[in-house]
Amino acid sequence: MSAKIKPQRGILDIALYEGGASTVDGQTNVLKLSSNENPLGPSPAAKEAFSRAVHDLNRYPSTDHASLRRAIGGAWSVDPDRVICGVGSGDILHLLAEAYAGPRDEIIFTEHGFSMYPIYTSAVGAKPVNVPERDRVVDVDAILAACTKRTKLVFIANPANPTGTMLGIAALERLADGLPPQAMLVLDGAYAEFVEGYDAGAALVDARDNVFMTRTFSKIYGLGGLRVGWGYGPRAVIDVLNRIRGPFNLSAAALAAAEAAVRDTAYLEKCRIENARWREWLANGLAALGVPSDTSMANFVLARFADEAEAVACDEHLRSEGILVRRVAGYGLPNCLRITVGDEASCRRVVHAVGQFKGGGE
Ligand SMILES: Cc1ncc(COP(=O)(O)O)c(C=O)c1O
Repeated sequence: MSAKIKPQRGILDIALYEGGASTVDGQTNVLKLSSNENPLGPSPAAKEAFSRAVHDLNRYPSTDHASLRRAIGGAWSVDPDRVICGVGSGDILHLLAEAYAGPRDEIIFTEHGFSMYPIYTSAVGAKPVNVPERDRVVDVDAILAACTKRTKLVFIANPANPTGTMLGIAALERLADGLPPQAMLVLDGAYAEFVEGYDAGAALVDARDNVFMTRTFSKIYGLGGLRVGWGYGPRAVIDVLNRIRGPFNLSAAALAAAEAAVRDTAYLEKCRIENARWREWLANGLAALGVPSDTSMANFVLARFADEAEAVACDEHLRSEGILVRRVAGYGLPNCLRITVGDEASCRRVVHAVGQFKGGGE
């Protein structure tokens, strides 16, 4: 390779994203609780729509995603003309960085923020600005204090991954109102549907011109394998993003399944209720074993151990039992493990295995 052919500055500094592990050597009955997937899978209607799509595989998909955007608009009371669909919500976050930031610009995210934010930032040559949190909660004052005239985007997930904590609407309003005029607040709502009655910031988007919301079909909708996400924002921003997104970014099968999923509101509700029930059971079960966690608003629990050594030892024990959870040292949380809320049997298996670990065997 010619030494003169070089990628843009910053790209070689990016460490490859590590997904949640899905296999353990020598184990067949593996329980994957490392990627915040829905243990119940997608709505049966979504599976059916996906199967039906097989009859038209010779046809290109829709480029404007109108049918899915209308369904999203109906389900979430948002204006379909200000919705954009992408290859997962990660695609939309990447498009925002590409369109609004470049060399000499700054993108703010927080201490324990989602690990893709620094990657999107470096990919466009912008400067990552990592702001401290307060006891694993996003700190509005710290973000506002970090803003400069070069700040273009502020990425926060609400609820946040991997902490599971969230800010209330008043704090989000204060954040949006305090940003410099050239900066946009991006509310990443990957886990928003797990919070009863939370609109993920849609009303803030409607009331302001500097707030953008992203959502995904990968979590509560159980369609992580299909890669569908969406964004909702000011008309001018949607127009900009549509100019740079791939026209055929979503396959026909993905569009059809996502549309059926978003229309199946009863299934969504069932998943939300099941998650809340088993999340509480899991958190209480771990707490009773001396493993506390912050109240999680998402579909995982951030289990806190005495120190990094104990977290690593517990992770190793869980692996030996075929249970995969996520180590989060890379998120600045070396003494924690992030455990996805599974179904009843999975939660019982986790608590049993942590009990074995804490009790020193069995
Ligand atoms: C906070 C957060 N945002 C965005 C995403 C991206 O999800 P997807 O690209 O599957 O929509 C994830 C996935 O884990 C996440 O945790």
